[in-house]
Amino acid sequence: MEEKKIKVECFRYCPETDDAPYYVTYEIPLAGRMSVLDCLNYIRENLDPGLTYFINCRKGFCARCALEVDGKKVLGCTCEVKGDIKVKPIREDKVIKDLWCKNI
Ligand code: FES
Repeated sequence: MEEKKIKVECFRYCPETDDAPYYVTYEIPLAGRMSVLDCLNYIRENLDPGLTYFINCRKGFCARCALEVDGKKVLGCTCEVKGDIKVKPIREDKVIKDLWCKNI
C-alpha cells in the first residue's frame, strides 16, 4: 500500500534575523492518526531541526501548543490532521521564533 503524503505549510520567522515572516512547505508521510504536533515533530526530527514551537503537556491541558491551522485556533497536540495544512502562530505579534509565542 502506498504511503499517503501531505503538505505542511509552516510559518517561519525569527524577529532577530529575518526582515519578514515567510512560509516553508514540507511534504511528510501521514502515518495513521497524527496530530499537528506529530507533524511538526516529524519535520523537526527528519527535515528541519531549526523549526521552533512550544509543547508541554501533550494532553490538551496547558494550551501552550495553541496554533492557527487553516485559519482556526487549535491545540496542536489534540488537533488531528487528515490532509494538507497551513500552520501559523496563534499571535504573529507575539512570535519569539517560528510558531513559538510569548505567553499570552
Ligand atoms: S501541549 Fe499542552 S495542550 Fe498541547
